[in-house]
Amino acid sequence: MTAMNRQWLLAEQPVGPFDENTFRLVETPVPAPGEGEFLVRNIWLSVDPYMRGRMNAGKSYAKPVDVGAVMEGGTVGEVIASNHPDFAVGDIVDERLGWQEFAVTRGRGARKIDPSLAPVSTAVGVLGMPGMTAYFGTKEVMGVKEGGTVVVSAASGAVGGLVGQIARIDGAARVVGIAGGDAKCRYCVDELGYDACIDYRGFGKDTAALGQALAEACPDGIDGYFDNVGGWISDAIYPLANPFGRVAICGMISEYNLTEPERVPRYTRQILTNRLRVTGFIVTDFWNRWSEGLEGMAGWIAEGRIRYREDVEIGIENAPKALLKLFRSENFGKQLVRLRDDPTA
Ligand SMILES: NC(=O)c1ccc[n+]([C@@H]2O[C@H](COP(=O)([O-])OP(=O)(O)OC[C@H]3O[C@@H](n4cnc5c(N)ncnc54)[C@H](OP(=O)(O)O)[C@@H]3O)[C@@H](O)[C@H]2O)c1
Repeated sequence: MTAMNRQWLLAEQPVGPFDENTFRLVETPVPAPGEGEFLVRNIWLSVDPYMRGRMNAGKSYAKPVDVGAVMEGGTVGEVIASNHPDFAVGDIVDERLGWQEFAVTRGRGARKIDPSLAPVSTAVGVLGMPGMTAYFGTKEVMGVKEGGTVVVSAASGAVGGLVGQIARIDGAARVVGIAGGDAKCRYCVDELGYDACIDYRGFGKDTAALGQALAEACPDGIDGYFDNVGGWISDAIYPLANPFGRVAICGMISEYNLTEPERVPRYTRQILTNRLRVTGFIVTDFWNRWSEGLEGMAGWIAEGRIRYREDVEIGIENAPKALLKLFRSENFGKQLVRLRDDPTA
């Protein structure tokens, strides 16, 4: 019997919020590797907020996924057949092989993972793209003022959960999170060492009321803001920023599904009068320093200074559900999909 490969294709480019019908599950025969190629059986699939942007037509910092193409995504898998000189059967590789159980690749973007160093799922989490986003975004883009106050939105998430801890390591005196719900806020304070965490859900999108709560949580003002969400939550930050404060614009997940802007940004005046430095970044800006970031993060994990959390859905059929969780604030930690038992675990 022919072995089959389940794949999720992009079925349509959604306008506004997407749902399970945005994708189509198909089965195709498992491909055979040609000369210079190898076949990977994926174990872990990473789902990430940027995927919403890839479903849109039009110009962005990366090419969109075509309708009918396999949804894009980072993966960790095992080499099960190889005609490639550098990749052998049994190797564990991290590559962007997309939402499918098997893939043939030439391995140009593949990285071999050593399962003895850390659970291999971390290659798409704390020791992968989100981890490096937090690492370089905090240290290099936002920068941490010694003795200052840092605020992080989506504070318990794959990126945000690390940012608060890195800010503390780098000398912040006060780290304040903004997160959705009591459980996430408790996790930020009790497990990740945030000094305070504000549950934004009770504020009904009232920026002034959230600002009041933030002012109480940040009595010395805000020196650094790591922005993961954009929208009305981020609007509450700017009036509280100290002179020469720094903002890293990492993401704006609250706006990715909007077809019209929900509000007009009002903070240009504060940027001017307080001489704020507001910088957007994409983690690949730091591609040439990746190994430095991995070393730093792995060292902190080994020393017990960085904690992380994974949220795992089982089975490729649950990939759309896993992605939807990010936009419904239902994930708690780095969202992954496990496609099969992890042979390295
Ligand atoms: N610049 C880059 O290179 C780069 C790289 C990676 C990620 N990012 C960005 O970083 C951000 C976080 O990504 P992540 O992978 O760490 O995801 P995550 O924080 O693990 O998960 C997404 C979280 O966003 C929050 N959220 C969703 N919808 C929201 C809304 N309408 N309003 C407020 N919060 C909302 C939810 O947290 P709560 O329950 O706390 O609301 C949700 O759990 C995203 O904006 C992503 O695009 C950027």
